[in-house]
Amino acid sequence: MAGVEITNLTKQYLVAGEEFYALKDVSTVIPDGSFTVIVGRSGCGKTTLLRLLGNLEEKSAGRIRLGDGGSKAGGRRIGMVFQEHRLMPWLSVKENMAFSCTRQEQRDRTERLVAKYLRVLGLEKFQDAYPAQLSGGMAQRVALGRTLCYDPDIILMDEPFGALDYFTRQRLQREIVDLFLAQKKTIVFVTHDVTEAVYLGQKIIVMDAGEVVRELPVDLPYLRDPASPEFLAVQREILSSLRGDQT
Ligand SMILES: Nc1ncnc2c1ncn2[C@@H]1O[C@H](COP(=O)(O)OP(=O)(O)OP(=O)(O)O)[C@@H](O)[C@H]1O
Ligand SMILES: [Mg+2]
Repeated sequence: MAGVEITNLTKQYLVAGEEFYALKDVSTVIPDGSFTVIVGRSGCGKTTLLRLLGNLEEKSAGRIRLGDGGSKAGGRRIGMVFQEHRLMPWLSVKENMAFSCTRQEQRDRTERLVAKYLRVLGLEKFQDAYPAQLSGGMAQRVALGRTLCYDPDIILMDEPFGALDYFTRQRLQREIVDLFLAQKKTIVFVTHDVTEAVYLGQKIIVMDAGEVVRELPVDLPYLRDPASPEFLAVQREILSSLRGDQT
């Protein structure tokens, strides 16, 4: 059974009296337990698609089917990591991570999960620090930890490493692959970075001007070598489907 089935999904806006399609007839399948990457240049509709999947926005037409039925979440928990970390400045790292786990009867479980992800993400020493005391990469790791503590079935990530330097970005890419291999959650990861897409994705959905222009399975084993001929070949495939290229 597919994790997420998207059929003829359309989102249109009225801009200065004119219809504008942010997404047009998008159909695809996001397999359960897969790492799917959506890649494309700025403005092609990546965030719009993710926000519709996360039910943060109303679609204009089409269908999103999650899990074993139902048009909405179908009992599935969806977590989202945004481009900017969106941490609460008045809460510590630990409190931010526990923030989405509000159910009183699950207090013990929340504490265990927070302790686990503080360890996994290398944040133990900073558990009592406040967001203003963290670097960008650390804050983004806390944001990821907060989403993981919520224990979602599907994690939607919108260019979460976009603002980070090359080295931090590489490190977090490796961490997210390790987490994926350990947890086998369904991950949908948006990026405009073609190398990042090939490093992470088992399935890559290439978008251009609101439409899906290409879908590619990537069978290379993790962790991938960006200098290998196989890696570069997939990268070339993606770039060739984004002709007229400004990416
Ligand atoms: N609320 C809105 N009203 C009108 N147009 C919108 C609205 N939200 C998004 N758009 C338009 O929809 C298109 C797709 O936007 P979207 O944010 O999905 O792009 P993106 O692929 O995420 O780009 P980026 O890589 O820069 O984040 C853009 O042209 C944008 O201007
Ligand atoms: Mg975006």
